[in-house]
Amino acid sequence: MSRIAYVNGRYVPHRQAAVHIEDRGYQFSDGVYEVIATVRGRLVDEEAHLQRLDRSLSALRMRWPMTPAALRFVVRELIRRNRLSGLGAIYLQITRGVAPRNHPFPAGVEPALVMTARPLPPFDVEAARRGVRVIALPDERWKRPDIKSVSLLANVLAKQQAVEAGAYEAWLVDDKGLITEGTASNAWIVTRDGELVTRQADRAILNGITRCALINLAGAHGVRLVERPFDIAEAQNAAEAFLTSTTSWLKAVVRIDDAVIGDGRIGPLSERLLSSYVDRVAAIGAAASGTVR
Ligand code: PDD
Repeated sequence: MSRIAYVNGRYVPHRQAAVHIEDRGYQFSDGVYEVIATVRGRLVDEEAHLQRLDRSLSALRMRWPMTPAALRFVVRELIRRNRLSGLGAIYLQITRGVAPRNHPFPAGVEPALVMTARPLPPFDVEAARRGVRVIALPDERWKRPDIKSVSLLANVLAKQQAVEAGAYEAWLVDDKGLITEGTASNAWIVTRDGELVTRQADRAILNGITRCALINLAGAHGVRLVERPFDIAEAQNAAEAFLTSTTSWLKAVVRIDDAVIGDGRIGPLSERLLSSYVDRVAAIGAAASGTVR
């Protein structure tokens, strides 16, 4: 089946989807994005994603390209046209628009909106339990990674270094030696006395929507949660570690550089949180009414 993308007001075959060479996203990375998971045609945490989008847009002093209600409609239409029936992901990008290359904001330019949809394979829970390796690398990003901007060069370079080292993710370390987050995911540990720890959502990290969902699930399970930074040594000595993101859900981290975490497999608290996150996504899918769109 051919994929359909949305480009500035039109639904077009994915292969033909293109933007102008003077789109400011292309020239300046002057734009923001969101990745939203879908399950049986339903969006996972749509509200939270759109709120974060609103925050990112405001931070860059950009306007919505259309009303939030119209944008919600386009997302649904894209899901429908792509017949996303299992798991999927919507990528949504808004840039400041197309204008002759010049650094200041152009006057009278409409923001540009593109969206793509792609089906994802079923979530591999067993692989999430077996876990992944991460390596530690310096956080060389700009000082506002809390804004979900398309300026991801430092993330790309660090992720590539991780992949070349045979790892799944890089955990980025700030100037004080503290872990901020992964290149495309948030970082978590469980201390030996059972405390769940993730960095507070300050300017140094993207406040992940999966992170927020997991904080709520942890609360519902009566888990002791502390939002504070931790360093590599603490993470390497932790009882458990894991990462979270929209497309990775929750994956155990079983090695950080050369240190094996816990017994090299998912730990008990991570397992509980993983299964409740899996149940949560399943419940969102089960709420899809009637025939799968
Ligand atoms: N990545 N931190 C960074 C730097 C990220 O890029 C992401 C998401 C996260 C997790 O956020 P969320 O739970 O809202 O997905 C944390 C997306 C999926 C991406 O760039 O593909």
